[in-house]
Amino acid sequence: MGRQIGARRIAGIGTSIFTEITALAVEHGAANLGQGFPDFAAPGFVKEAARRHIHDDRNQYAPSAGVPRLRRALSEDYRRRWPQGPSVDPDAEVTVGGGATELLHDALLAIVDPGDEVIVFEPAYDAYAPDVAMAGGVVRAVPLEPPDWRFEPARLAAAFGPRTRALILNTPHNPTGKAFCRPELAVIAELCRQHDVVVVADEVYSELTFGAPHLSIATLPGMFERTITVDSMGKTFSVTGWKVGWAIAPPPLTAALRAVHQFVTFTNAAPFQEALADVLPLAARDGYYAGLRADYARRRDLLAAALRGARLDPSPIDGAYFLLADLRPHGVADDVAFCRRLVTEVGVAAIPTSVFYGEPAAAPPFARFCFAKSDDTLRAAAARLAARPPLVP
Ligand SMILES: Cc1ncc(COP(=O)(O)O)c(C=O)c1O
Repeated sequence: MGRQIGARRIAGIGTSIFTEITALAVEHGAANLGQGFPDFAAPGFVKEAARRHIHDDRNQYAPSAGVPRLRRALSEDYRRRWPQGPSVDPDAEVTVGGGATELLHDALLAIVDPGDEVIVFEPAYDAYAPDVAMAGGVVRAVPLEPPDWRFEPARLAAAFGPRTRALILNTPHNPTGKAFCRPELAVIAELCRQHDVVVVADEVYSELTFGAPHLSIATLPGMFERTITVDSMGKTFSVTGWKVGWAIAPPPLTAALRAVHQFVTFTNAAPFQEALADVLPLAARDGYYAGLRADYARRRDLLAAALRGARLDPSPIDGAYFLLADLRPHGVADDVAFCRRLVTEVGVAAIPTSVFYGEPAAAPPFARFCFAKSDDTLRAAAARLAARPPLVP
């Protein structure tokens, strides 16, 4: 065949480091702190809800926008979280889809025209650049600078131009654990209002905060009407494989997003949507979220102690479930090579954060360790880190 097989829009989208590290972790029987998913059981009340709806034969297509009682539950949950915020119309402002991954993809396809620019903070979750590329857009990266991962407001302002269509904002942030504070959000919001830019807010770690409660940019003055807020049940309820996510946006943005969604997946797993409708009010009533945060704080501390013991001191985090070790003080410049050695020689899998940059060679070298792991996995990682010769001098 003389022609190239893949379309130009997927050029450069290859197998990710996550796949490589996961394969190495399996091959070497490593404690896998690489990919970000919980390896422990989901809460009983969550599983029971799904069981009930499968038993009740919720087997057929749900409406494309999502089952109505789930959209109502999401709207009520929005009120619980943002009592002072805008009220959300379940019919015109809520869309349910196949996890945050699908809704982020839909959102960018819905608003970005070929040649439009999309501002992304780096390091950035690995789906954003391919999503922008598939929409024909161009990423304009703005760095978050270690150690506290703040951005330079002048640099952000300089990234805005006549072709800027959207800004992707992930808070709490993967991989750094940063939660953007109110003054930072105010700077971003002001620039987006000035330049008439849509914010795609990825808030999948919204319930996983360790200090100040989560702040959503859509709740800032004048921002609801220009924000698509994406969240999902994967992280919050330890069911990343259920793939139920949602997008909250004002009616015109919702209409655009639904136009894409109906031809990407049309709809996703009906029994799990029904389950989430049951789970949201139960979780809000029963103190589930405080318990989740306390449990994750404990797992975080277990991992932090193990890393410190190996001289891979992690920085404090505001949210999400990752700890980062800065490799620069140890003279390590290549975080990919470091993580390959870590998994093959020490038996602990971590993700090099340079892969979260458009230009990995210029990125600061850090290793990302996920603590959404069982005590057994975390203890195994701690034992291996303690037993092997140190990887860093
Ligand atoms: C920042 C961020 N956004 C989106 C996702 C994907 O979410 P979902 O599993 O709901 O598709 C992840 C998963 O790791 C993530 O870390």
